[in-house]
Amino acid sequence: MNHDLIKPYDTSGEKKEQVRSMFDKIAPYYDFLNRLLTLRIDVLWRNKAISKLKNVKSNQILDVATGTADLAISMSDKLAAEKVIGLDISTNMLSIGNKKIANKNLTEKVELVLGDSENLPYENNRFDITTSSFGVRNFENLKKGLSEMNRVTTHGGAIMVLEFSNPRVFPIKNLFNIYFKYVLPVIGKITSKDPRAYQYLYESVQAFPDYERFISILHEVGYKNGKFYPLTFGICTIYIAEK
Ligand SMILES: C[S@@+](CC[C@H](N)C(=O)[O-])C[C@H]1O[C@@H](n2cnc3c(N)ncnc32)[C@H](O)[C@@H]1O
Repeated sequence: MNHDLIKPYDTSGEKKEQVRSMFDKIAPYYDFLNRLLTLRIDVLWRNKAISKLKNVKSNQILDVATGTADLAISMSDKLAAEKVIGLDISTNMLSIGNKKIANKNLTEKVELVLGDSENLPYENNRFDITTSSFGVRNFENLKKGLSEMNRVTTHGGAIMVLEFSNPRVFPIKNLFNIYFKYVLPVIGKITSKDPRAYQYLYESVQAFPDYERFISILHEVGYKNGKFYPLTFGICTIYIAEK
């Protein structure tokens, strides 16, 4: 099935509204569940993804679907960024992010904005880098969101996407499937109190156009020299491309 059609709750309703409402609901549990369900490997994945941007100009960064701002905060620390803007459609995810930013005294450097990735409120060629970790899979229209990220990126700038992928090798592929399909939704349901959220995670990862297919989409919307780097047996993949 086309991944844009995979929705959290109702197959007939608008995906964007459902995604927003799901993340508003699970926001208080999101960081805790991320650490628990990935055994903190998500932190290593984000750091590895950031390290791939070390040689790219990184003065102005836009982190799309920033959620609780983990990637935006880490980039402000690890890259030579003057400003990192994190944008998201979920008010509740952003308010948790804003608390973390205030606690770390980063309010000058990291700014969070309520907005839609498919209609970015910025002029063309505004950012050196645009990023998204575990965000693009949730877009209502993947190509529209990626085109918008391309539009606001300066020529010679880069996009970095970190996203779950489907491992291809036996037996990791099979173990991953069991964990994602059966174990994770049960832990997620008990902890986040949303019975659908972590089932949607499994379904959306299954349908996501990963590896070469995602690079083709990046090239289709205007990027070039796309490369991908599978992490942890291909459970997660870093994608980088240039504008
Ligand atoms: C799985 S979370 C990822 C959050 C964060 N980037 C991270 O690494 O933990 C996905 C986020 O995408 C956001 N999102 C989904 N669709 C969006 C859209 N169209 N525009 C902006 N944010 C969106 C959700 O609100 C949610 O916060």
